[in-house]
Amino acid sequence: MAHKSFSKSVLSAAVALTLAGPLAAMAEDSVKVGLILPMTGASASTGRQIEAAARLYIAEHGNKVAGKTIELIVKDDQGTADMSKRLAQELVVNDKAAILGGFGLTPLALAVGPVATQAKVPAVIMAAGTSMIVEQSPYFVRTSFTLPQNTTPIAEWSVKNGIKKVVTLVSDYGPGLDAEKAFKVKFEAEGGQVLDQLRAPLANPDFAAFLQKAKDLKPDALFLFVPSGQGASLMKQVNERGLTQAGIKVIGTGDVTDDDLLNSMGDDVIGMITSHDYSTDHNSPENKAFVAAFMKATNNLRPNFMAVNGYDGMALIYKALEKTKGDTDGTKLIEAMKGEAWVSPRGPISIDPQTRDIVQNVYIRKVEKKNGQLYNVEFDTIANVKDPTHK
Ligand code: PHB
Repeated sequence: MAHKSFSKSVLSAAVALTLAGPLAAMAEDSVKVGLILPMTGASASTGRQIEAAARLYIAEHGNKVAGKTIELIVKDDQGTADMSKRLAQELVVNDKAAILGGFGLTPLALAVGPVATQAKVPAVIMAAGTSMIVEQSPYFVRTSFTLPQNTTPIAEWSVKNGIKKVVTLVSDYGPGLDAEKAFKVKFEAEGGQVLDQLRAPLANPDFAAFLQKAKDLKPDALFLFVPSGQGASLMKQVNERGLTQAGIKVIGTGDVTDDDLLNSMGDDVIGMITSHDYSTDHNSPENKAFVAAFMKATNNLRPNFMAVNGYDGMALIYKALEKTKGDTDGTKLIEAMKGEAWVSPRGPISIDPQTRDIVQNVYIRKVEKKNGQLYNVEFDTIANVKDPTHK
C-alpha cells in the first residue's frame, strides 16, 4: 500500500512538473502591457483613440519583440483617479504587468505615479499634458505633449502677427493652468498684454458667462484651452457669442480644434489658428500610412493626437524591449527609453534623457476646408521643442 501511494505521489509530482514547465516558460515569454484608459465617461474618445492606435501598432509590428510575446490588457478607469490607482495596483500585483500606460487626464496619471514608483514599473503617459507629472515618479516617461510645449509657440506667433491684447480662457485644472501661465509668460515677454485669465470648471462646463466677459474686455484675441473631447461644445458657444464678428480673433492649442471633433464644429471655425504637435493632415509618408491604416482598422475613425500618443507609446515600449533584449526589469526598461529617438507620424520625436519627457516639433496650423472636410493645416514648424518649464 505504502509503495503504491508513494509511486502515485511521484507520478502526480511528475505530472505537475511537466505541466508547470511549459506554463512557466510561457509566462516568462510574455510581457504584459497594462493600459489604463477612460473607455467610458467624458474622456471616452481618448480611450477609444489610444486603444485603437496601440492595437494597430501591434498588428503592424507583430506581437513578438526580442523573443517575448506582447500581451495588451486594457482597463477602463471611467475617468476617475481612484479607479486608475486601483487598476494600476491590480495590473502590477495580480496580472504581473511589466509596463503600464495610458492615463487620459492629468489627475488619472498622478494617481498612478506612486504605484509605478513602488513597483518599479515604467508608466508611459500617452495622454496627460501637465508639465510636472513626469517629475512625480522616476518611472514616468511621456509620449504625449506638455501644455507649455504646445502653448509657447502660439503666444510667440500672436505677438509677431499684430495681436497685442489677449484674454485667456482655460479649463480649471493642471494642463489649463500650465497653458494659461505659458501663454502669459511668452506673450508678455514679447511685449503683449494679457487682460484677464478666465478659468472654466473641468466637469460639465458652461462657457457662456466666461465668453461674454471675454467679449466685453474687447481683446485682439481670445486664447483657449480645453482637453480633448470638449472642443466642439466650446466652439459652438464661441460661435453663438459672435466673438469673431466682434473683431476678436480666436486662437488656442490644438486640443480645441481636436481632429476627432473638428468636422462637427462647422464652418465657423475655418481660419482659426492653433499650435500643436499633431494634425491628421500632417504631410509626411509616415503620417499618410498611419492615417490610412488607422481609418481602415476603425471603420473610418479619424485619428487625433491621442491616437498618435498611444501609437508612439507602443513604439517606445517595443524599442525599450529590443534594447534590453527582452529583459523586463523596470529600471532597465526606463533607462532604455531615455534618449530613444524616431520618426513618428507627427514628425521626428525623442525622449529627453534628463526629464523623460517628449521632445517634438510644434506646428502652427490654420483650420481649412479640403474636399469637404475640415483640417488643421500646418503652415509653420518650430523644431525639436522641449518643455520650457522643466529644470
Ligand atoms: C490632461 O488632463 O492632462 C489633458 C487631457 C487632454 C488634453 C490635454 C491635457 O487634450
